[in-house]
This record gives sequence, structure tokens and C-alpha cells, in this order.
Amino acid sequence: MSQPKSSNIHWHGAIVTPEERQATVGQKGAVVWLTGLSASGKSTIARRAEQLLLERGHSAYVLDGDNIRFGLNKDLGFSPADRTENIRRIGEVAKLFADACVITLTAFISPYRADRDSVRAITPEGTFFEAYVQAPIEVCEERDPKGLYKKARAGQIPEFTGISAPYEEPLNPEMLIKTGEGSIDECAMQILKELAAKGIISL
Ligand code: ADX
Repeated sequence: MSQPKSSNIHWHGAIVTPEERQATVGQKGAVVWLTGLSASGKSTIARRAEQLLLERGHSAYVLDGDNIRFGLNKDLGFSPADRTENIRRIGEVAKLFADACVITLTAFISPYRADRDSVRAITPEGTFFEAYVQAPIEVCEERDPKGLYKKARAGQIPEFTGISAPYEEPLNPEMLIKTGEGSIDECAMQILKELAAKGIISL
């Protein structure tokens, strides 16, 4: 839905400018949108990157797929429409976090390109970074930390991404993180280096 359902609502802007807020907080906000198959390593990399950022004095926070489905999105399943709504809500939350100058790392499969592009479209220019956490499905299936691929292959989980539901690869991601090739630390540091290269943090 592009238009709000409510009428008679009015936008209230802040008194402080984004620049004043950034100067006070001491950093710029950003959204690092990790996308990839289940067990590709999104949450692991996001959490290590969060830790590395915090150790360096930055405010960082992970929004994680499984966790958000326990609360904010507990009413959503895995149909295409529910996944789209999942990503829409998280996109709005991530945008607010970034507006509050937090480096926000999201870890959702987010299988649809159009949904990811919609989040990009609502975030200020230069603050949204799509990070494709890439691992071949054979590797993800081999890792299978939660035993979900096994269940999906046995027909016990319908619409499982990569098996019976689609994953649309990013075409031009700002970050490409190959978790089959580097260690967790290397992959997490890659995010910090890329954030530094894009002027969000200094290393
Ligand atoms: S998304 O597709 O809507 O972005 P999200 O990242 O929130 O998915 O949740 C994915 C997690 O839910 C997976 O890591 C896995 O643990 C679990 N899961 C349960 N059912 C499915 C399913 N049918 N497809 C994919 N992941 C599933």
C-alpha cells in the first residue's frame, strides 16, 4: 500500500536537522541490508559486525529475521504477501533507526528484489547498502544449523526459500559477502571497511 489508510494526518518534522543530530550523536546512521538464503550466514555476520562497530564506539543494532517474527511480525507467515509485508515493516523500522543515527544491520532472507528496492526507495540517498550474503545453496543445505533444509526436502516445510520458494539474487549490491570463502571475522570486517569507504564511519 503506497498511500496511508488514514486521512487527516499531517507530517511533523523535527526541529533539529539531520546534520545537527549527527553532530550530537557523533555518527551517521545507515542501513546495511543483509540478504541471502537461510543459513547463508546473515545473522552471524551481522552480529559480529555489530560487535566490532560497538567496540569501536559506534552505535549499531541488528534486526534479525527469526527474532522479529516473535514480536512485531508474529502475525506473518511465509507466503509471498506475508514476506513482502515483513520486509516493508522492517524497512520502515530500519529507516527510523538510521534516522536516529544508528548503524542498523538487518538480517532477513528478503527474497524479492522489488521488496528490497522498496526499502532502498524510502531511505535517504547514500544511506542504504544492500549486502548480498552469498553462499551456494549446497553449502547452506550442508550447514543446515536448524535442520530446516532437511525438513523442507522431506516436504514438512512448504514454501521454503531455495527449495520450494524463490530467491531473487541482488543484481547490483553495494556489498558482496561470500561466506563460503572468508571467516566470520573477515566477512564482518568487510562490512566495516565498506562502511568506511562509503563515509559512514572512519576506521
Ligand atoms: S523472509 O523471507 O520473510 O525475509 P525471514 O528472514 O523473516 O524471511 O525469516 C527467515 C527464517 O525463518 C529462516 O532463517 C528460517 O529460520 C525460518 N523459516 C521458517 N520457515 C521458512 C520458510 N518457509 N522459508 C524460509 N525460511 C523459513
